Amino acid sequence: MRLSASGRWYSVVVLLLISAALPLHATDSLLTVANLRCEYKVNPIGVDVSHPRLSWELVVPDRATLQTAYEIQVADSEKNLSLGKPLWDSGKISNASSIHVSYEGPLLKSSQRYYWRVQVWDNHGHASSWSGPSYWEMGLLEPADWQARWITPNLQEDQQKSNPSPMIRRVFDVHKNIASARLYASAMGLYELHLNGARIGDQYFTPGWTAYDFRYQYQTYDVTSQIKPGGNCLGAYLGDGWYRGNLGFRHERNSYGNKVALLAQLVITYKNGKQQIVATDGNWKATTGPILASDIYNGETYDARLERSGWTNADYDDHDWKGVTVINSPKAKLVASFGPPVRAMQEIKPVKVIHTPEGDTVLDMGQNMVGWIRIRANAPAGTAITLRHAEVLDSKGNFYTANLRSAKQTDQYTTNGRGVETFEPHFTFHGFRYVAVHGWPSEPPLDAFTGIVVHSAVDPTGTFESSNAMLNQLQHNIVWGQEGNFVDVPTDCPQRDERLGWTGDAQVFAPTAMFLHDSAAFYTKWLKDLALDQQADGAVPNVIPNALSHTTREGESGAAGWGDVAVVVPWNMYLSYGDRRVLEEQYPSMKAWVEFIRQQAGPRHLWNTNKTFGDWLAFATDRSDYPGATTDKDLVQTAYFAHSTDLLRRTAEVLGKQDDAKSYGELFDQIRLAFQQEFVTPNGRLSSNTQTAYALALAFDLLPESERKEAAARLAANVRSFGHLTTGFLGTPLLCRVFSDYGYLDEAYMLLNRKEYPSWLYPITKGATTIWERWDGIKPDGSFQNPGMNSFNHYAYGAIGEWMYSIITGISIDPAQPGYKHILIEPHPGGELQWAKSSLHTMYGNVSSSWEINSNGMTALVTVPANTTATIRLPHAKLEDVTEGGAALQSAEGIANAHQDADSVSMEAGSGSYAFHFKTTDSRSATGSN
Ligand code: BGC
Repeated sequence: MRLSASGRWYSVVVLLLISAALPLHATDSLLTVANLRCEYKVNPIGVDVSHPRLSWELVVPDRATLQTAYEIQVADSEKNLSLGKPLWDSGKISNASSIHVSYEGPLLKSSQRYYWRVQVWDNHGHASSWSGPSYWEMGLLEPADWQARWITPNLQEDQQKSNPSPMIRRVFDVHKNIASARLYASAMGLYELHLNGARIGDQYFTPGWTAYDFRYQYQTYDVTSQIKPGGNCLGAYLGDGWYRGNLGFRHERNSYGNKVALLAQLVITYKNGKQQIVATDGNWKATTGPILASDIYNGETYDARLERSGWTNADYDDHDWKGVTVINSPKAKLVASFGPPVRAMQEIKPVKVIHTPEGDTVLDMGQNMVGWIRIRANAPAGTAITLRHAEVLDSKGNFYTANLRSAKQTDQYTTNGRGVETFEPHFTFHGFRYVAVHGWPSEPPLDAFTGIVVHSAVDPTGTFESSNAMLNQLQHNIVWGQEGNFVDVPTDCPQRDERLGWTGDAQVFAPTAMFLHDSAAFYTKWLKDLALDQQADGAVPNVIPNALSHTTREGESGAAGWGDVAVVVPWNMYLSYGDRRVLEEQYPSMKAWVEFIRQQAGPRHLWNTNKTFGDWLAFATDRSDYPGATTDKDLVQTAYFAHSTDLLRRTAEVLGKQDDAKSYGELFDQIRLAFQQEFVTPNGRLSSNTQTAYALALAFDLLPESERKEAAARLAANVRSFGHLTTGFLGTPLLCRVFSDYGYLDEAYMLLNRKEYPSWLYPITKGATTIWERWDGIKPDGSFQNPGMNSFNHYAYGAIGEWMYSIITGISIDPAQPGYKHILIEPHPGGELQWAKSSLHTMYGNVSSSWEINSNGMTALVTVPANTTATIRLPHAKLEDVTEGGAALQSAEGIANAHQDADSVSMEAGSGSYAFHFKTTDSRSATGSN
């Protein structure tokens, strides 16, 4: 369902008419504002955005509510805010904007906390009261705000291997009457900070992975409650991390530098307003301790006998510790961290212990997870316990690690023998379901082990459930696939010696990711690194951050469908979150990418240069009588050239760059023509007779109008003749979408429901709990695909999620009013489903759509958030049959322009919850068996 611009205006007018007809309750208003956010976060501290954007949600029982005005106040203290003494008052602005409203007050100051509140008015004449206070706090905005110096420990190291993790510390005195204390910290490598015997914060892998040549992030911690009058001690473990640990599949170290370093600045503010600063400088002390080696791929070795008990207490004796050296600040900028921190998000317990034929004792976590195992042991000093991590057991039931390639994923803990000891690694993570335990003094008891699930703390936003248990498992696998591969950057996989920000994987999965979790801040951060690592000619490295360029000095770049992430992800951020600023900020990068391709393609507009992956991992066969599905790489390249150009044109339009919009529109037409001349026969066949070729041509609008139907029919015929999909990374996300757009819903459901290889459900028949990299990671005969490329947690094929949510339950975005300001809701029953439901927490609030078919007909429940509108389309319905809330549809409050639209009933809806019921005219629907 596509809504034209005129349809849009029509829906707004209709809504205003609906609301005009509703009674006014100005005095008993239940209108409130909730979920106040600044730059996507609730009460963030350490913000370095000069004009932070504020968002809120309207909560109101009335249907068809739209915001008509708002007023924002921002003050420099909570008191001034409540006294109505703001430093910035927007005034009452007659405007529907409730997301991304930019602060436009006086220049924001370093470290200052700003309190804000908002009041809104709606189209029913209601006014909310002021919201409760929310705040954001600025970070250190200027280089001059930093008194801290970068320091590196004076320790002998062998830079060819992982060395014992340095520990560094500093003692300082604090007076009474502390008002607040903030700690700002960054590192070359990773840091874990401790203050007075306790860990600071709950974040892992800080300061995060960025394009370190250009920027390091610092984190801000409120440590007020951890500081005490008298002697205090601040300390840190340092880890190699991405900075100098093993990175990339070429087994190289020291990608960004060969020394770890810390930058930390503690600012204590007393009640009298005076400040004390404790910062990294030449006076810190350094040594090593229990962490003997720690590496992202290989795991951690920890000897508890070497612990330095009390090392961050002020009275600890460090006379035998070494010193530190102050080093020059890197050229790279320091920026406040923007993405969600990596946290321990969940704990799971092993489900059983297995004794394998080869004699290993193995824990089954029941779920392919990312993180590590916490152990609780009670054993004599010097007992060495080793945990190895694997995703699968082989067909004989043995522990299988060949697909990890060189990554050892092994933690080793040696006990100190002082009673019950617990251990969790510090600077590593593993992708695994099975854990081989060696060295446990007895049969390992299940309750001694806990799986700590770790990922970027993106809030879950989207759900999907249906009457088909296997589809629900697929949904589960997509969710776990996203979470396990959101470890500060969007990775390809979490287990083998790779775990890199592969751009193609991110490109295809982003729309699904944005539905399932609030991924806005996560991608915003990563896109900045993309723009920084982008080459001078506009080529986008194939991995971001571009670690491979450091290890090989020639990182590869510019692959079709991979580099296009530079355009596709900002565009999807705009669609999903209504984020126009990300388009503004990424525009130079988006444009540079398209210009790079233009230059590669030359005057014929056919892109066939540069190394590229094509439709990566598409269906292949070695049976001589059964074709595989290799799509010509240059067809894929030119299709993506057109697609990115088209999205760039739309972006230019949104940003009001009319000249660019015009010229990229013309370029798109030229590429389309070139595509047709080169890859389409006069009778409408594509030169690559593959599903991916047809899916790309149709989804990216590359065929003349007159040939589209025929092309869709050829695609359907191809799928029917194979009986299955044959697509790889690039074709897979488009296939079902093209089918449902062109009237082949049954074919789409057939592909989705198929259980034999190749299909989405086949891995589930083999016990998958995450999405596999390959359609046949485990083959039907139980053997494995090539271990050189066989991850069991690779989210690309999970991109089908977007189709499930936007077609099965039918929640989709109207590009003309992005961010779900106007929502398109059109369920598509089929595939023998009896019911399906999904929900999405949008920037405006919760939208949901569920449907059920039984012998009485079809029921559809829809919720539309306040300050949004929806076009709802009920399939296989007759206008006169449809009821809402048990009464005739025509009389339903909040609904307008209900009309018969071929076999469906369409209508405009305001916010609120609706219950529709009707007899379905689809004879097949009611016979569903799932
Ligand atoms: C990664 C992919 C990536 C690909 C590029 C692989 O090693 O795991 O997911 O996109 O290389 O071809």
